[in-house]
Amino acid sequence: MKKKTLSDIAIQGKRVLMRVDFNVPLDENKKITDDKRIVESLPSIRKVIENGGRLILMSHLGRPKGKVNPDYSLAPAASRLSELIDAPVKITKDCVGNEVMQQVLAMQDGDVVMLENLRFHPEEEANDPDFSKELASLGEVYVNDAFGTAHRAHASTEGITHYVQTAVAGYLIERELMYLGKALDEPKRPFVAILGGSKISGKIDVLENLFNKVDTVLVGGAMIFTFFKAQGLAVGNSLVEDSKTDLALSLLEKARERGIKLLLPDDVMVAPEISATASCHAENINEISDGMIGVDIGPATVEKYRNAILSAQTVLWNGPMGVFEIDNFAAGTMAVAHALADATEKGAITIVGGGDSAAAIAKAGLSSEITHISTGGGASLEFLEGKDLPGISALND
Ligand code: 3PG
Repeated sequence: MKKKTLSDIAIQGKRVLMRVDFNVPLDENKKITDDKRIVESLPSIRKVIENGGRLILMSHLGRPKGKVNPDYSLAPAASRLSELIDAPVKITKDCVGNEVMQQVLAMQDGDVVMLENLRFHPEEEANDPDFSKELASLGEVYVNDAFGTAHRAHASTEGITHYVQTAVAGYLIERELMYLGKALDEPKRPFVAILGGSKISGKIDVLENLFNKVDTVLVGGAMIFTFFKAQGLAVGNSLVEDSKTDLALSLLEKARERGIKLLLPDDVMVAPEISATASCHAENINEISDGMIGVDIGPATVEKYRNAILSAQTVLWNGPMGVFEIDNFAAGTMAVAHALADATEKGAITIVGGGDSAAAIAKAGLSSEITHISTGGGASLEFLEGKDLPGISALND
């Protein structure tokens, strides 16, 4: 990695200001339903505590639109972290201001303080220079370990780096770049990518970038119906991006030219409506009935995709195969999750690009059986698109 990390700096007695991504899902009782992002930040957090640093954590949670809103308080994240490290984690009332400054100046070596939600201030997302400077003044060194927010040029990720001398990456960012970066730059072959999701428009850049790297792409999710419509097939009432049919054809052509196998389903599961009570059945893609909606890949496709996944040495998955949040429509996505776990057992490197696919792996109970599950949703997508992540580029080389 071309950036300095937490291992390259002195920590003892220093106020270490660390940007983490504790944007975790909460239920209606403000209980965290998935603490992966907190757990994955522990190596950096422990490093600072064990080396006698004074750790000041900052994060956003949700999208409170620049206003104080107790529903988006980071208090649940602070208390979960406190349980995980078995030490107190004080949460401040705000993330800037005199009171916060006094609190951080009173910290002792090994203490941990969590600042309240950065997005209670509109200046955070506006990447406001004065706000960045104020945040910077809280610490003596700055660490960014918020991979999930690295695609945002916000005050706490990018702006702040202009007002600190030391700006380094934490171990979570280091690990994410190692797995995602290695898969893209020097994959063990065959390299199979599985791409799902509802719209081609959200995945064009990933597809184009992956065309330079992979051997095979397996396509699932509602975006397959734009490919099918482009090929003149009937798609019933399935979701189609009518303005993207030419693009779909040109992607198929590009894959052919480059000798990449771009596989589409042979059959799909269809339902009369998308609801938890609707039943579904398999139909061949040449025979999709009028009025039906495609909700998942079918059993013949599951078999074909599973074989491709099991023949790979590197597998990258981004985007579900269907509406997996509804149990009746989850079989294809669950089968892909199991195929990834089986490929891992056979010795392949398997990487899940965060977001919905990470949730699907968790739903299948297979999170511990995958080589790497990214903590980034949008960030991992932008990384896979080959884009620059401002929160990482801004760190010390
Ligand atoms: C995420 O969950 O993808 C990150 O925390 C970024 O959140 P955002 O999309 O609200 O910027």
